[in-house]
Amino acid sequence: MKLGIIGAGSLGSALGERYADRGHSVMFGGGASAQDAAVRLRSQVGSNAETAAFGDVVILAVPFAAIDAALADAAPLRGRVLWSCVNALKPDYTGLAIGFDNSAAEEVARRAPGAKVVAAVPPFANAIAGRSLRYDRDLAPTVFICGDDSAAKRMVDGLVRELGAHSVDAGPLRVARLVEPAMMLAVSIAYAGVPRDVGLRLLERGSVVPIGEGSRA
Ligand SMILES: NC(=O)c1ccc[n+]([C@@H]2O[C@H](COP(=O)([O-])OP(=O)(O)OC[C@H]3O[C@@H](n4cnc5c(N)ncnc54)[C@H](OP(=O)(O)O)[C@@H]3O)[C@@H](O)[C@H]2O)c1
Repeated sequence: MKLGIIGAGSLGSALGERYADRGHSVMFGGGASAQDAAVRLRSQVGSNAETAAFGDVVILAVPFAAIDAALADAAPLRGRVLWSCVNALKPDYTGLAIGFDNSAAEEVARRAPGAKVVAAVPPFANAIAGRSLRYDRDLAPTVFICGDDSAAKRMVDGLVRELGAHSVDAGPLRVARLVEPAMMLAVSIAYAGVPRDVGLRLLERGSVVPIGEGSRA
C-alpha cells in the first residue's frame, strides 16, 4: 500500500519505519524532519500536498496546534482516506485543548472537506519504534477506531493490526471525543513522575464484530 505520512516526528517516523519494513511504500510530508526521516529510511519526501496525493492512506501525525497549517497545505483531500493520529493535547501535555462535545478528529474532518477521516490514536511511538507492543500478560494495547466510512475504517484497521496492536471499532467519528480523553489518561500516567511505558487495553467477553460487518460502523 502507498502511505503518505504528514508529520515525521516521534510518531510519524516510527510508523513510517514499521510500515516501510513491512513492504509499504512511504512518503513523508513536511519540513526538515520529513527530509531527515526520508533519508534515514530511504523513502520518499514531498510537500504535504504531494504526500496527500501519494497515499492510499494519508496519515496525519502532527501536533494538534499544527492541524490548520498541515491540512491547508495538504489540500485537496476530498475522497482521500485520512487517518488522524492526532490527540488534542495541549502543547505542555497537561490536558486536552478541546473536549466533551468535540475532538481533534472532528476538527481534522472540518479542515479536510470530503475526506474519509478515520480517528485512531496509535500506541506510544517508543513502543512502535521498539517493535514490541506486548505489555502486561502479553496483551497488546488497544487502538480505538472511529469513523463514518466503513471501507476507510477497514483500511486503517488493517494498518493498526500490522503494528501488532489490538484494534477495536469504537463507532462513528464523533466517538473520538470519548477516545481522546482516554488516551490523555495514558499520557498522564506515562509522564507523571518517573516515565512509564503504558498502554490501554479494552477487555471484552465474547467475540468482536469485524469492522464494517456490525451496526456500529
Ligand atoms: N508520540 C506518540 O507517542 C504519539 C502517540 C499517539 C498519538 N500521537 C499524536 O501524534 C501527533 C504527533 O506527535 P509526535 O509525538 O510525533 O510529535 P512531534 O515529535 O513533535 O512531531 C511532530 C511533527 O509534526 C511536524 N509538523 C508540524 N507542523 C507541520 C506541518 N504544517 N506540516 C507537516 N508537518 C508538520 C513536525 O515537523 P518539523 O519538526 O519539521 O517542524 C514534526 O515532525 C500528535 O497529535 C500526538 O497527539 C503521538
